[in-house]
Amino acid sequence: MANRIFSGVQPTGQLHLGNYLGAIRNFVALQGDYECLYCMVDMHAITMWQDPKELTQATRTVAASFLAAGLDPKRNIIFNQSRVPAHAELAWIFNCVARLGWLNRMTQFKEKAGKQRENASVGLYAYPVLMAADILVYKATHVPVGEDQKQHLELTRDIAQKFNHDFGVEFFPITEPIIQGEATRVMSLRDGTKKMSKSDPSDYSRINLTDGPDQIADKIRKARTDPHPLPETIEELEKRPEADNLVGIYAALDDITRHQVLHHFGGKLFSDFKAQLIDLAVARLGPIGTEMQRLVKDPDHIDGVLANGAERAAAMAAPILREAKRIVGFLGA
Ligand code: TYM
Repeated sequence: MANRIFSGVQPTGQLHLGNYLGAIRNFVALQGDYECLYCMVDMHAITMWQDPKELTQATRTVAASFLAAGLDPKRNIIFNQSRVPAHAELAWIFNCVARLGWLNRMTQFKEKAGKQRENASVGLYAYPVLMAADILVYKATHVPVGEDQKQHLELTRDIAQKFNHDFGVEFFPITEPIIQGEATRVMSLRDGTKKMSKSDPSDYSRINLTDGPDQIADKIRKARTDPHPLPETIEELEKRPEADNLVGIYAALDDITRHQVLHHFGGKLFSDFKAQLIDLAVARLGPIGTEMQRLVKDPDHIDGVLANGAERAAAMAAPILREAKRIVGFLGA
């Protein structure tokens, strides 16, 4: 089977450095070697309440970030999920394949629903099933994501396996995650034990892709650190979450390893290291932010890219969905 990539980003809140280093940057790196579909997952977004106008706008902003980061809309299929109904149709079939016990184990649901479990939407609970449908409706073989999506991808594999087993077919591929780079789990700048996240109330916890040089500098300067100089070894680094996070960010932005960063900065003061990190972050992220600002001023261009992407995605999904329906025994498929 040919290699095919699918990945998605939710159009909610501000895209941040974690989304960039954990996902979007890898999308760009993979675009030459695979057939790629990159999706704004607006149907996943509404599993939590979204203001309709903001959702539309955020969908364009995520698309702008993909383009600004260097994804070519001709070589890749870039689109928003709700435009291709095949995702929802396959998700229903998968709702009948996945087991309650599997979903009960999903840690992201537990985190997001929190104490309000009884009041969480059914969509939030079924979220990983829709994710499996996103991927398998294209028979994608590889999925680049950050570390936090690993469990969902294991569920995708379980669903594919059970579908194949229950119907006695070898139809859906067993998808491989691609979790690569030095920053697969970027942590909050305020707390090295918490993931950098769109939903953190403190804007100082994250670097947004649209932050200008002054904001980037200010946030890195204020990032929490411990009082010691930078460690010399990886073993030392691993015991110091804030240091580990900043070193990981540096390594990822500069395309080197943590080890190489320590070789250079081990024993130096955080103030020196942070000054270099600021320069590096501004050099890497500045142009993306500027290009995003330019692109969002031209919504017609973005909407055109997404319409074209949706058309190509729908054409690719149609025969796979039809075959899945035939396998299930739906008359007329
Ligand atoms: P989302 O929108 O939360 O995040 C988009 C991508 O960014 C990665 N990411 C991070 N990586 C490193 N450090 C962080 N702090 C960090 N925060 C986020 C995520 O791992 C993700 O790759 N469920 C998905 C969207 C989705 C999807 C899919 C992904 C829907 N269908 C099918 C892959 C395939 C999500 O909520 O991502």
